[in-house]
Amino acid sequence: MARILVTGGTGYIGSHTVVELINAGFDVLIVDNLSNSTSDSIDGIEKITGVRPPFEQIDCSDSEQMETALSKYPDICAVIHFAASKAVGESVEKPLLYYKNNLLSLITVLELMKKHEIRNIVFSSSCTVYGQPDVLPVSETAPIKPALSPYGNTKQINEEIIRDAAHADSNLKAILLRYFNPIGAHPSALIGELPNGVPQNLVPFITQTAAGIRKELRVFGNDYDTPDGSCIRDYINVVDLAKAHVVAVRRMLEDKSAEQVELFNLGTGRGLSVLELLNSFMKTTGVNVPYTIVGRREGDIEKVWANPEKANNVLGWKAEETVEDTLASAWRWQQHLMQ
Ligand code: UD1
Repeated sequence: MARILVTGGTGYIGSHTVVELINAGFDVLIVDNLSNSTSDSIDGIEKITGVRPPFEQIDCSDSEQMETALSKYPDICAVIHFAASKAVGESVEKPLLYYKNNLLSLITVLELMKKHEIRNIVFSSSCTVYGQPDVLPVSETAPIKPALSPYGNTKQINEEIIRDAAHADSNLKAILLRYFNPIGAHPSALIGELPNGVPQNLVPFITQTAAGIRKELRVFGNDYDTPDGSCIRDYINVVDLAKAHVVAVRRMLEDKSAEQVELFNLGTGRGLSVLELLNSFMKTTGVNVPYTIVGRREGDIEKVWANPEKANNVLGWKAEETVEDTLASAWRWQQHLMQ
């Protein structure tokens, strides 16, 4: 059976993807330096799937340790590269750290892939590359806008690195996945998002406020050019997102019609405002979330949601979960964390 190397496999999207890969019959190797996750997620993966995937605690920009790990698993046929630093605000404070972590790890992985003749990579990119799109919903043909943060810039540069590497090596195939806003947790509540300190992202902040850990949610701005004045995003269920990675890996391994480098938006196609999402959470869970409207957050995009037709038609993948079920799963995960 084919083995997939999942870098960042103990993290939020990584751990959900490992579950879906195992469910689909793949063997997995997880590599993670645990800088923003814990090995508890491996226990969760094992409870859900009945399989404990091998795990190497390595920074994937450390080529020597990576070399040793890869030599143990000659059956690796594809890499899903999640490992990256991902906090927008922190990237503004510590740009060199972000460039170093996010660029070096990809470059190291690509070098080792070439050496070990591993020819397929799926890369975690982001809708952040579109900036504020001129046309909504945004499709893959929309222009890339200048990045608003070093984090966003690393996603743009990494996409280019992969394109250039593929241009120079006709054996290398890549699928770039541009995620919109992943939320929620596995329905079992055994894996989910583990925010480091005060959550920066909306849904973990909502669930922590609902749990009484935070006093109130601050809604960043109600004077945007949107129906209720708050920002609009395309919130996608993390299990739906994880399943898209399995489809992408299969496509690279099995579908001869796949182009050498392909690009897909992963979103629902539906935009929801901050206030709509918040109200939906309160209605679904029956839990009140105190909130206050404050000023805009620097660097926020006003509105963005996906045109997911290419992923729907070419990958045959579609976001299935409702936002209500997704928010309920986020709440169950928060409750699990407090047990
Ligand atoms: C951004 C990037 C995304 C990146 C992610 C990583 C864009 C469009 N998206 O997501 O690519 O992967 O950061 O963190 O650039 N909000 C509040 N109060 C809060 C927190 C958030 O009102 O306490 C609002 C924000 O203003 C925003 C929405 O909720 O309108 C979603 O915010 P967040 O979850 O941080 O994600 P993005 O900023 O959209």
